[in-house]
Amino acid sequence: MAIEIIGTGKAVPPRRVSNDDLAARIDTSDEWIRSHTGIGSRHIADEHTSCSDLALEASKNALAMVAGFSGENREERDRASAKAAKSIDIIILGTTTPDFFGCPSTACIVQDKIGADRAGAMDIVAGCTGFVYGLETAAGLLNISKERKRALIIGSETLSKITDWNDRGTCVLFGDGAGAAVIEKTTAPSEGQQRRGLIRSMICSDGSGSESLLFRRGGSRNPFKAGETLEKGIVVEMNGQEVYNFAVKAVTDTVAALMEAEGITADDIAWIIPHQANARIVQAARKRLKIPEEKFFLNIEEYANTSAATIPIALDELNRNGQLKKGDMIMTVGFGAGLTYGGNIIIW
Ligand code: UT7
Repeated sequence: MAIEIIGTGKAVPPRRVSNDDLAARIDTSDEWIRSHTGIGSRHIADEHTSCSDLALEASKNALAMVAGFSGENREERDRASAKAAKSIDIIILGTTTPDFFGCPSTACIVQDKIGADRAGAMDIVAGCTGFVYGLETAAGLLNISKERKRALIIGSETLSKITDWNDRGTCVLFGDGAGAAVIEKTTAPSEGQQRRGLIRSMICSDGSGSESLLFRRGGSRNPFKAGETLEKGIVVEMNGQEVYNFAVKAVTDTVAALMEAEGITADDIAWIIPHQANARIVQAARKRLKIPEEKFFLNIEEYANTSAATIPIALDELNRNGQLKKGDMIMTVGFGAGLTYGGNIIIW
């Protein structure tokens, strides 16, 4: 069997917040943010928009592509996506900012809203590696069943809702957005034919770093008590330096291991789509790997770190810009809370 990507989509909120906008509120500067992270702006959801709302838009765009729709008319897009949604067997959504903690899953909310009547749906908690994990999980679920043919994988985040906007160490880094991809199980290429689709994945973890990036309060380890007031709300806490060191090693090791396992060199790869957390992490790994800069697709300057959404947003941009050619080899590489890391190799 081959597992091919047949549709991609993204959604980012219209409100764009520049580094200068942040510098007007807290003690930071455009120069510091750009030189330390490569971030120029981020898109922030309004108070009524949640994780599932962005996921829904990205999913509709991906599903409409599957149905052959490519115009601007939203009603036509919705009709096309509703039709394609009926063919989806599995929905997997990676997020750290679900609509509700614990349950229900955000994937179920999306399942209902797109009208994917026959799909199973679940969330994956793998931090910023959510899409990499989701793709491999969905492919596995398609491969083990004769009946299942198509899956929708989504990375969606509203990190602005769980950010401490007075903590300059984290608030400048994050943005909101969602990306989605539809995969389909097709017949395996016959001998002599080029391989297609998802050909290899690595999904790894190092839970010893679980406290470097976490929501400390609200779960069963530190539940809220009746009458308790929270000074900062529920906010993400991060040891930036620890995550940085882990991330450089995770990207370097994952790309090297995937290349070695597949018996390829950087020359065989058209694009590497890294998780967009900090352009310096990518540069440091790239130098260690001795891979040319132009192989890495980066859009962090516009969107900042949208966690599980960065890789599918980047994939959709490459796809819609016509930068992916049939037969191109693409590598994704992610890392994030858990700590988790991993990557996929896809032949377009
Ligand atoms: O998605 C996966 C999760 N996240 C990541 O991958 C992030 C990984 N970590 C990083 O990207 C980097 O560690 C950061 C971007 C978070 C921080 O960069 P850094 O170069 O490691 O800075 P630092 O934390 O060592 O701080 C250096 C200085 C400090 O000032 P002093 O103590 O030297 O006076 C900070 O207080 O920079 C200061 N600083 C800032 N200054 C202006 C920290 N944040 C800011 C800021 N604006 N936004």
